[in-house]
Parts: sequence; structure tokens; C-alpha cells
Amino acid sequence: MKAILLAGGKGTRLRPLTVHTPKPIVPIFNRPFLYYQIDQLRQVPEIDEVILSLNYQPRRIEEIIGEGEGLGVRVRYVVEPMPLGTGGAIRYAGDQLTESVVVFNGDVLTQVDVNAVLALHRERKAKATIVLTPVDNPRAYGLVETDVSGNIKRFLEKPGDSEITCNTINAGIYVLEPDTFDRIPANTNWSIERSYFPSLVERAVTFVAYIYRGYWIDIGTRQKYLQVHRDIMDGRYLAPPFSGASALAWVAPGARIEDGARIEGPCFIDEDVTIKSGARIGPYSVIGRHCHIEERADIEGAILWPNSRVGADAKISGAIFGRHCHAGRSVTLGDGAVFGDKSVITDYSTT
Ligand code: GDD
Ligand code: MG
Repeated sequence: MKAILLAGGKGTRLRPLTVHTPKPIVPIFNRPFLYYQIDQLRQVPEIDEVILSLNYQPRRIEEIIGEGEGLGVRVRYVVEPMPLGTGGAIRYAGDQLTESVVVFNGDVLTQVDVNAVLALHRERKAKATIVLTPVDNPRAYGLVETDVSGNIKRFLEKPGDSEITCNTINAGIYVLEPDTFDRIPANTNWSIERSYFPSLVERAVTFVAYIYRGYWIDIGTRQKYLQVHRDIMDGRYLAPPFSGASALAWVAPGARIEDGARIEGPCFIDEDVTIKSGARIGPYSVIGRHCHIEERADIEGAILWPNSRVGADAKISGAIFGRHCHAGRSVTLGDGAVFGDKSVITDYSTT
């Protein structure tokens, strides 16, 4: 059995981080996001190949993921000649498929039991099964109405405020039968959410919901990107090295923490990081490989990708840095500040 990961979007809402790093490989701590999804797909013994459906900066993704060595499953790449949208991408990647296929949006993190979703799909002899999850505000998602038997009655992508009739949304995880893909025109930009799913409802094919009430997040905005790190550090989503440990300050063996530096968990300090004397790494900080934090700098709730440098007496709270950034001495950066790769923030700058 194959799985398709839709990993071709531009990640516009995560700019500037995604200018040089496509969303599927933005790091969560020190692992590319897709690794977490592949870990989850590996729980389904039948899945022997993951097809990565790519469009934006495919080479960067291939460089990082390779052929899946060490990931425990074979990885194949399908690169679209142009952005085909979610539906067009599934048709393009799944053209040769003859058996049920598992599809994941390449930016959702859940602990849904994919084996149970497959079992429901088979039991109901469905043409399509989608995972739904309840959220406070469905506005940014695909709103999905079901009947008491779990059949999908309506699929409305990005509903307006007056169109919100329930709180269950498309979680971005599907099991589909490829004999329905002929509904998707070939080589055309086509949305699975706006066209294919509503067409299944119209034609009254067996289209069922698997309701999942556990952890679910779409990492596609900066707030959600920060949130997913907090959730893992707090044990709301179980992943190493935190895996539910309470307020763990995880420091890689090769990090150098000088005497007089304060480290307050939960936080993550990667290999070859230097934290100078008098600096404080506060809760919910993530300090990437080879970062250098100077004397008395104070960091809290911020995420620094590898190779960044923070000057003496700087105060950084809730900001995100791409790779190779340099914050000068005494800069003050607050919540919501996001800097792309190689940003230079001059001494004494403030947000
Ligand atoms: N290959 C390929 N080609 N992939 C694409 C393309 C494309 O042209 N466009 C988008 N994708 C991928 C993105 O990389 C992402 O992994 C996934 O398809 C969904 O696209 P998003 O842009 O993240 O959509 P969204 O978050 O606004 O909405 C979708 O996800 C919600 C759940 O997070 C929809 O599926 C909603 O219905 C759903 O609720
Ligand atoms: Mg998304």
C-alpha cells in the first residue's frame, strides 16, 4: 500500500522562514517536519512506500529526505511540472495506483490511529474516508457536516462566518479509492477540498468520517509553529526527547554551557551550542545547532534555527530566527518577530 504526502505548497503563511526552507522540512526541534509524519505512517505495516508530492523547491526536500534511509520506509518523489493544487497533485502522484491510498496534508501533526481509519474505510466499503477533528473556529479549514451514521453530508472549504454550522473540520488525512480519481481532471490545478469532496457528496458515493478528538495541529502559521514546540515540550504531543517528561531542559551532550548561565526547562539546546556566562535560556526556548548566545543575553519562548548568534545583553522573547541570523548586543525583540535566514539585527534595535 502507498501513502501520498502532499508537500508541494509554498508555505506562504510561514514566510520568511519558508523562503529557503519549504514547509515540509521546517525543523521541529532538530528534525524536519516530514519525519514526524513518516514516523506516523510507519505504524501502518501495509504501507511500503511514501510518495512525496512536491512542487515548491523539490530539490531541497530531496536533499534532506534522500531515499528514506533510516526512516524505515521507501520514499519516492513525484514533482509536478506546475502547481496542481491538492486534487491535481493527488491525481498526478496517484495515477498508477489501483488500491486504497492514504493521503496526508504535509503540514498536519496528529496522533490519529491510521490503522483504525483504514479499518473503518474497509468496514464501510467507502470510496473515501476522511479524518475530522473538532476546532474552536473552523474558518481557516474545511468545514465538514456528517449525519448520525458518520456519512459526510457537506464539505465547505474556508467557510464564511455565517456558514459555520458545526465545529468538525477536515484534518487533512484521507483514505481514497483511486477509481474515483477520474473525477479530477489531469494536469489541471484542482482542489480536492473545493471540487472533489463536494462532488462525492453530490453523487452520494460512500464517503465517511472518522472523528478524532486527540491532538491535532496544522503547523502552517507562525503561531502554530511556535505552539507545536510548546505542545511537545509540555507533553501534549509525545515525541522525543521530551516524550512527556515534565519541564525537561534538554541539552545536547556537545553543547557548551558556561558557569553562570541559567537554563530553565522546558527547553531544547542542540549540539555545538555555546551559552556564555550570565545568559539565561528561559522556558520554551529552542536553540538550534551551532548557535552562539553571548553574555547576559536573555531568551525565552523563542526558536532559533541553526547557526544564529545573539549578542550580549540582548532580550529575545517569543521571536523566531531562521538560519544564520545575527542579533546584535542589547537588541530587544518581542512576540511575533520573525526573521528570515541571514537577518542581521543591528545593536540596540528594538521591536
Ligand atoms: N503537491 C502539491 N501541489 N501540494 C500542495 C499544493 C500543490 O499545488 N498546494 C498545496 N499543497 C499541499 C501543502 O503543502 C499542504 O501540505 C497541503 O497541500 C494543504 O495545503 P495548505 O495550503 O496547507 O491548505 P490549508 O491548511 O489552507 O487547508 C487544508 O488543510 C486543512 C487542515 O489543515 C485543507 O485540506 C482544509 O480542508 C483542511 O481543513
Ligand atoms: Mg495547511
